[in-house]
Amino acid sequence: MKEVKIGLLGCGTVGTGVARILLNSSDLLQSRIGAKLILKHVADLDMKTDRGICFDEGVFVSDAFQVVDDPDIDIIVEMIGGETVARKLMMKAIANGKHVVTANKALLASHGIEIFRAASQKGVDIGFEASVGGCMPIIKTIRESLVGNRILEMRGILNGTCNYILSSITETGVPFAEALKKAQEKGFAEADPTLDIEGFDTAHKLALLSSLAYGMELNLDDIYVEGISNINSMDIEFAKQSGYTIKLLAISKFSGDSVEARVHPTMIPSGNLLSNVSGSLNAVTVTGDAVGEILLHGYGAGMMPTASAVIGDIADIARNLMLGVSNRIPGLSYQPQHIRKIPVTPMDDIRTHYYFRFSALDRPGVLSRVAGILGDHGISIQTVHQRGRDEKGAVPIVMVTHIAREADVMNAMDQISSLDVIADTPVLIRIESDDID
Ligand code: HSE
Repeated sequence: MKEVKIGLLGCGTVGTGVARILLNSSDLLQSRIGAKLILKHVADLDMKTDRGICFDEGVFVSDAFQVVDDPDIDIIVEMIGGETVARKLMMKAIANGKHVVTANKALLASHGIEIFRAASQKGVDIGFEASVGGCMPIIKTIRESLVGNRILEMRGILNGTCNYILSSITETGVPFAEALKKAQEKGFAEADPTLDIEGFDTAHKLALLSSLAYGMELNLDDIYVEGISNINSMDIEFAKQSGYTIKLLAISKFSGDSVEARVHPTMIPSGNLLSNVSGSLNAVTVTGDAVGEILLHGYGAGMMPTASAVIGDIADIARNLMLGVSNRIPGLSYQPQHIRKIPVTPMDDIRTHYYFRFSALDRPGVLSRVAGILGDHGISIQTVHQRGRDEKGAVPIVMVTHIAREADVMNAMDQISSLDVIADTPVLIRIESDDID
């Protein structure tokens, strides 16, 4: 029986899950793959924590570089995270001719061009299914199952922390800070949740998906990113009353000459497939010209769901090793010579529907001044509601627009903000809906 030797770098939450599956499901894996997967080394600086796994003598080591230099190892599983040591280890592993499996979206989104080029030149594979959407096989779906489709658009809830927080506020009305604290207590949110709640983690994932879907060169820098920290329970409540749910969405649309790629809080109709994805779950819809719209749904994080995706990549590579092939499926879905620079559509040119909330003094003529400015910028109002007066004498005016151009909306917002009857900074939330024009 052929043996495939694995070196696992990082034995934190997901690394531990990977080790558990490799050791506990060894027979199952062998019967499906036809090779024996051997966890030859696990490297982690923390050699004291009890991970509930009994490793054989000599398996657990502290030096990850020793593992990537071990000529006996076929596959390096990088579970360290971050962009410094992990990058060095990954590049060293590739240079040493080893295949790599990783969940490190931040590293791939920022340095993927260098990493995938090196891997392709060296003839090794990079598996990164676990980097987007945890257990959901979104990368395999785009790269393999939908190979005959032109991908037209994708919409995803790709961050469990944000989805948990927004769902908590929607379901119980708790303030943002309390929802975040609860997410941290339950282990969904990091102690420093900035990457998640400011939308950067979602942007890393969107950069990877957009590259895979359209054959565009990885471009994290041009993705528009707005997180959820300014979302207020009042807007969630108003959204609910108007038949919408607020989600942090990753949106990507292909127009041929450019790609819309943006991450921001988004109102979606409550009947939409994505609006019912709650708690820490993730989901993504992909629309292809042949397949129509499909939905993947599942745990975007967590020990065993993420480890499941890592094992899937290991199995693919092990099967290739059995056949003596590599680079059978190009890392970024297109043959390297067909990956091109496709510009990201500037935000100013985005056209969508908008929700506005103005805090206005309750005086005659206020509504007509606001509506007048919107009209001057060619923005057509679809619905308007004025709610009860608050203790400061201001009233929330809530509007939903027909499709408008972002640059016009921003100019109108500047003008409206400077009106003496507007008490607070206006709130703007973009709407994704196929049902209204
Ligand atoms: N921190 C991410 C989340 C999981 O909250 O979904 C890893 O990408």
